[in-house]
Amino acid sequence: MTLLVLLACTAAPGSFGARSPVDQAGQDARLPLPLVAEAEDLDPAAGALHVALTAAAGTHSVEGVDQPADLYNGQVPGPTLHATVGDTLTVDLQNALADSTTIHWHGIAAPNDMDGVTILADPVPAGLGFTYAMSLDHAGTYWYHPHVDTHHQVDLGLYGVVVVDDPAEPAFDDDLVLVFDAWGEAGAEDDANDQGDHHGVFNPSDFPWTVNGVVDPTWSTTTSRTLRARLVNTSNTSYLDIAWPGAVRIAGDQGLLGATDTPDHVFLAPGDRAEIAWAPIAGDTDVTTTVYVPAGGDAWEPDVRLFTVHAEDDGAATLPALGDGAVPTADDGRTTLTYVFAGGPSEDGDGWLINGEAWPDVTVESIPLGEPSVIEVRNLSATEHPFHLHGNAFEVLSVDGVAPASADFEDTVNVPIRSVVRLRLVPTNPGDWLLHCHLLGHEDGGMMTILRVE
Ligand code: C2O
Ligand code: CU
Repeated sequence: MTLLVLLACTAAPGSFGARSPVDQAGQDARLPLPLVAEAEDLDPAAGALHVALTAAAGTHSVEGVDQPADLYNGQVPGPTLHATVGDTLTVDLQNALADSTTIHWHGIAAPNDMDGVTILADPVPAGLGFTYAMSLDHAGTYWYHPHVDTHHQVDLGLYGVVVVDDPAEPAFDDDLVLVFDAWGEAGAEDDANDQGDHHGVFNPSDFPWTVNGVVDPTWSTTTSRTLRARLVNTSNTSYLDIAWPGAVRIAGDQGLLGATDTPDHVFLAPGDRAEIAWAPIAGDTDVTTTVYVPAGGDAWEPDVRLFTVHAEDDGAATLPALGDGAVPTADDGRTTLTYVFAGGPSEDGDGWLINGEAWPDVTVESIPLGEPSVIEVRNLSATEHPFHLHGNAFEVLSVDGVAPASADFEDTVNVPIRSVVRLRLVPTNPGDWLLHCHLLGHEDGGMMTILRVE
């Protein structure tokens, strides 16, 4: 009897469709990991990166099926903008979409009027262009995406990564950008508001994870080659809780951590980044994620394989020492501002609340430039929310009273259900900055406000 049940389970991969959740693409059809093409630098001068990005409709093939998509320069993910700390970045955006768009520079301290948000400037109309300019003063892994009709436009594939290198950091043999997004069939959901979207919350069969646009790819290396991998969760709704055997976490959203660590799982809420250092293990290493739902955490479903690394054994790699030595700031218990996240979905689409208010009917709070403020974020709702602030990085002081092991500067931090997260902010960038949930359906459903730095 037991044997029969086991056999039946092996034969039928479960109730979520034909694909086994662990083996997303099947053994036969695995594609190599695509390396995300970098944008061409139009300015030969050192210290200046000048690129052109055209946003246009097209298609993106997922598991052999062409799906409607919006793309930057015809690719998903969009081109990586690869700069050196101290560079100026100039981006000529051409909007060839049918709708208005903008580009927001997630995690970058851009000047307020270059932030790509519609509170400060009208979006770029269809058929027109706009030039963004900023200086890149902080090394790290950032990303870019539209900030108008955000839930829809990001979901259709408008996103790319910005890598800002610091030549003072040790070099690795390989430096990989890994962009994660869950893609399902366009229109697979019956919610009228979501027609044409690809996002999925927790059904890995209908919405498989893609890595650099491909489901369950493979990447080959050798054991002597050190790897730095930059992990970016660009999904508008789906969380990652990644198990990468042997990975050393070296950076969060805003560059190097004070000290490295080796977590069992690297957790990435939508919008989050992390960087890992890795000495490849001989043979095949599967990198997996739990199936994580924002309304309760790790689900009962089997883990999902994201990709496999194959490493030929040619001797051991030695990982360079990293960590910038910064120690965490002690929390003195003082609170400058409190944000309470609450609410839920509503019929008129504005039921997600911050301090009882739904965008755009919000109170603008102000904090002084250059002085330490402490923001306390409380989550009273029955689902988690990735808290994101534009234009200024913050230090995580604690999550439910527990301080991080090393100094940790972020721009996006998950706030678990019924939890309190305390953040220290010394604003360096004046202006009106959006503060919102990075579950983009929540953001578009009201969970957004403005923090003024004056
Ligand atoms: Cu990723 Cu308001 O942004
Ligand atoms: Cu939310």
